[in-house]
Amino acid sequence: MEAEKAQKLLDEAELIHSSEVVSAAVRDIASQISARLADKNPLVLCVMTGGLVFCGQLLTQLNFPLEFDYLHATRYGPDTQGGKISWRSAPWTSVKGRTVLVVDDILDEGITLAAIKESLRRMGAAEILTAVFTDKLNGKQKPISADFCGLTVPDRFVFGFGMDVDGAWRHLPAIYAMKEGE
Ligand code: IMP
Ligand code: MG
Repeated sequence: MEAEKAQKLLDEAELIHSSEVVSAAVRDIASQISARLADKNPLVLCVMTGGLVFCGQLLTQLNFPLEFDYLHATRYGPDTQGGKISWRSAPWTSVKGRTVLVVDDILDEGITLAAIKESLRRMGAAEILTAVFTDKLNGKQKPISADFCGLTVPDRFVFGFGMDVDGAWRHLPAIYAMKEGE
């Protein structure tokens, strides 16, 4: 996206969660995850690319042994047949017998995360936990609820803290909603 267009988009957007609120939520999730996984030597898997910022900040606050890898999966088109994801990159590290923590940016309809979880189960993971930074309040029946969740967001297109608008603004430390009607 052109710089001018990106700037206009941000100027017109509504701040949903400030960087202070975001940082406090990361700290809170980190302590919940530590309480649950500190003795499990988990394999932490970042769902690229949206999970990058949250996962990066989260990792620095997990003060126990763990391993890290990433995966990149996208949905096959817009439809809702569960399990239909295409791997752009499957995790390189074996998940067999491991406790796995999948880290992503947002639970929208929950289809992607449910499908990722099912795939990891088929790959032999022993236990699969999920952490999403945001849960979208869209009133939909979601096939999965996250084990760890930071903040809720309204049923609008949101961006920042890992989430992009056509490639722009993933790197923002706060979360914004796009101007309504765009
Ligand atoms: P789901 O299968 O509907 O849960 O899709 C989740 C994925 O869609 C997330 O991991 C994001 O990459 C993307 N997504 C959903 N809602 C938004 C949004 O409001 N802003 C940016 N990305 C979104
Ligand atoms: Mg995503």
